[in-house]
Amino acid sequence: MAKTHQFDVVVVGAGGAGLMAGLYASRTAKTAVISKLYPTRSHTGAAQGGIGAALGSIEEDKPEWHTYDTVKGSDYLGDQDAIEFMCEEAINAVYELEHMGLPFDRTPDGKISQRPFGGHTNNVTGKPVRRAAHAADRTGHMILQTLYQQCLKNKVNFFDEFQVLDFIQVNGKTAGVVAVELSTGELHVIHAKAVIFATGGHGRIFEVTSNAYAYTGDGAAILLRHGIPLEDMEFFQFHPTGIYKLGILITEAVRGEGGVLINGAGERFMPKYAPSVKDLASRDVVSRAIYTEIKEGRGANGANYVYLDIRPESVIKYAALDGRTNPDGTPYTITGEQVLAKLPDIVDFCRVYLGVDPVTQMMPIQPTAHYTMGGIPTNKFGEVVIDDKNTPFPGLYAAGECACVSVHGGNRLGTNSLLDLVVFGKYAGLKAAEYANQTDFAPLPAEAESVSKAQFETLKNGSGGENVFKLSNELKKVMFADVGIYRNEKDMASALEKVRELKSRFKEIKVADTGRIFNTELLNAWELGNMLEIAEVIAASALNRKESRGGHSREDYPNRDDANWLKHTLTWNRNGKIEIGYKPVTITKHQPKARVY
Ligand code: FUM
Repeated sequence: MAKTHQFDVVVVGAGGAGLMAGLYASRTAKTAVISKLYPTRSHTGAAQGGIGAALGSIEEDKPEWHTYDTVKGSDYLGDQDAIEFMCEEAINAVYELEHMGLPFDRTPDGKISQRPFGGHTNNVTGKPVRRAAHAADRTGHMILQTLYQQCLKNKVNFFDEFQVLDFIQVNGKTAGVVAVELSTGELHVIHAKAVIFATGGHGRIFEVTSNAYAYTGDGAAILLRHGIPLEDMEFFQFHPTGIYKLGILITEAVRGEGGVLINGAGERFMPKYAPSVKDLASRDVVSRAIYTEIKEGRGANGANYVYLDIRPESVIKYAALDGRTNPDGTPYTITGEQVLAKLPDIVDFCRVYLGVDPVTQMMPIQPTAHYTMGGIPTNKFGEVVIDDKNTPFPGLYAAGECACVSVHGGNRLGTNSLLDLVVFGKYAGLKAAEYANQTDFAPLPAEAESVSKAQFETLKNGSGGENVFKLSNELKKVMFADVGIYRNEKDMASALEKVRELKSRFKEIKVADTGRIFNTELLNAWELGNMLEIAEVIAASALNRKESRGGHSREDYPNRDDANWLKHTLTWNRNGKIEIGYKPVTITKHQPKARVY
């Protein structure tokens, strides 16, 4: 028998979205946050460069400009009502974090410091605008620490190192979740009126990724198994600058502070691809440019990487050529000490992992799988919606990277992920508590943990003919190679076939570790099951969308096709078969037009 607990609201995941949801829900409802990690180890801590908000600390900016940039960055697939809401909420969200104690960097006159980021523009001049509020290059880390402290102060109940295994629903109403306590192997049933999934993304299905080991798509896969569709799963973002081979993020703030991309021939290549904003174009544009340079033989040393250059002498040279100035109109400059002060983690990562000092040497980089634009469909209040009419599922919420509101559409702008999780985490928490305070507990089914128990039994009793790490590596390779930055029918069809073959071989896995205490082999095997289900949905949705838009770039359909494809994809897994449907994109002010950089 599983141990049972009862809470009004249970939040699954303790990254920025989960902590924000937990904090807000706990103000009026008995709330628990469960997480497979210790909360401050969550992946939000890896977000570096900043959180987007039109504070106008340094120069004129407006929520309307932020909105338009986000719509354009999304390649018009983002829902404009939700984007307007997020960009208007952004300013208060950042000040709220500041008042909670988040140590933002400051301007000389004491305002929150802001830096340029890709796709953030002054909509009148078209020039980059400083919109990313930051705490050095550790903005996500600071958000996580700040929110965790606030949750502790507010007496949120934490279940650390508890892996969620299942969602419990009774007659279409939320009843809680099942989890395993990793330190004992014991199953727990958390009976709740409302459940908020904030389980993050699934970048671990790709070979080269900036994502944490925990990013295996657990929440999305669990809900998919419960008949909930996933939205726009074909849209996955490749961040242009990951450390070569390792994938570790090198923040876009490097380019915000004046860094430039250089190919193997020593040329700065972004002006060729984005003549106006150059190295600060949207991520999809920059990742494709790097890929093209490499494919056409201009990678560094004949290999699959190019360079990112933040050496002060280069920054000063290119800033002069671009006519970039400081806010007071003087020519833009940077010193080695300033690089160290503004980008301390980046300097450390490069020194430690590459033996390269960014103050005096160029950094070898390649695009890295970074962010899940699609996910569990929600409205702007975090309510999970399950069809093309946006019908909410009673008591079920999602926020952060696992959710698709949709504010990022086909391509997310840098800094909008931290903003998304703070804004929509808050509203998911508020709405879940409001719902819980107006409803009774759904009765728990007998043996609510039976499906989870059976899943573990299957993994322990396979034939042993297959190995979890081997299958996992095969999956990552095929997804990176064939459902990556550039895609085409032939490669995606063979990737889908391969994923299905891996799904079938997965049944032969036998977990050798029979222990109960921190059985990470069992956990990794269970996570692989989730990754395979998510990969199948991604490959099927990508194969189905016959156009190029945002991060979904098809060699065989190179153009955006609004007449046929300006719509969201919804994907169900019904009795083991992928089914695809659609729902309309909400357009308020901005009619689709060609993206020009
Ligand atoms: O480049 C970065 O600092 C990443 C930020 C983001 O993904 O928003």
